[in-house]
Amino acid sequence: MSSEIPKNIILVGFMGCGKSTIGRRLGQMLGYPFVDTDDLIESKAGMPITEIFERRGEEMFRQLEAAVLQELGSKDAGRAIIATGGGIIGRRRNRRLLKELGFVVWLQVSPDTIIARTKRNRDRPLLATDNPRERIDRLLAEREPLYREVADLELDTSELDAEEIACGILESA
Ligand code: S3P
Repeated sequence: MSSEIPKNIILVGFMGCGKSTIGRRLGQMLGYPFVDTDDLIESKAGMPITEIFERRGEEMFRQLEAAVLQELGSKDAGRAIIATGGGIIGRRRNRRLLKELGFVVWLQVSPDTIIARTKRNRDRPLLATDNPRERIDRLLAEREPLYREVADLELDTSELDAEEIACGILESA
């Protein structure tokens, strides 16, 4: 395992893949701050994500997401662990910014695990639908090539706990 990682580590992947849990653990292990783009968006907008979607629409959310990512890239705030929203890879410009920001890890997760982890969670407006499984399958099909495009490392998280995943990332970063 490297004792010091000379760059940001950015976690990408679908809702429920464990970006925040693993990101916090990585931050503790390395002594780096943990940053979550969804938290930055909420601070910027002064309201929770669900409310941004309800009151301003997804397009406004995506604009805020792109702005937050741009800001992260433009300030040299030292090294950080950065967790991102599952849809951040949708815009081409975001994909370029993510790659420039540091070492990008795609945390892969199965639809069944996504369903299980997001079932009781109301703060994901894109899954607030009568048929979340159908929505997940469609979004995954659209997004998988985009996660792959930005990823320096692809990790299948299904058989591993957060500790093992964090160690796997540090070995490769
Ligand atoms: C989204 C994922 C969410 C959040 C927003 C949209 C998406 O973040 O950014 O609800 O498009 O997949 P998480 O992946 O952290 O749940």
